[in-house]
Amino acid sequence: MRVANNRCLLMGLWLVSAASCGQRQQDDHEKSQDKATAQKPTATAGQADTTAMTANMELGKLVYDQYCATCHQSNGLGVPNLNPPLAHTDYVTGDKERLIRIVLNGSNDGLEVNGMVYSNAMPANAFLSDEEIAGVLSYIRKSFGNRADTISAAEVSRVRALSD
Ligand code: HEC
Repeated sequence: MRVANNRCLLMGLWLVSAASCGQRQQDDHEKSQDKATAQKPTATAGQADTTAMTANMELGKLVYDQYCATCHQSNGLGVPNLNPPLAHTDYVTGDKERLIRIVLNGSNDGLEVNGMVYSNAMPANAFLSDEEIAGVLSYIRKSFGNRADTISAAEVSRVRALSD
């Protein structure tokens, strides 16, 4: 019995002719196929990241439209003399901690942005969740021609804890 099965397996390996060996050889064959498909998910793991980033951006755009666009405009160019642009500014694409602080605490310091000072004040947005702030900052860092990396909710949470 054992000998016959082993021979069958060997034949299966070398000849790949399932028909004459019966069910057992087919089972083995299916098992090795399972192995091949079980290894696949590692190759597609990168796709999950992309999906998460897209969700983050989508949330960010919603927050932007609701809480920022009235002043900074939907094209991120701001309003001359009143509200600064978010396109190509060092505040947006530079240091993450400084950027997170501006959104959490607002600013009435008369920041100089690209050589101009703006007379309006920036309101605090600490009522937004870490996810919402991470989303809106990731959105502005990747929109209006900006090409900076994204910001995570964990990074916002860390800066929020520092300023409490
Ligand atoms: C009421 C108008 C107003 C709203 C609403 C507003 N801002 Fe501002 N924002 C300003 C003004 C004015 C400044 C400059 C503040 C200063 O000079 O101290 C500023 C500064 C900034 C800066 C730093 C300077 C720059 O232009 O790079 C960033 C970044 C920023 N805002 C992002 C946001 C984001 C994100 C939101 C929405 C969550 C938002 N702002 C909502 C008016 C606004």
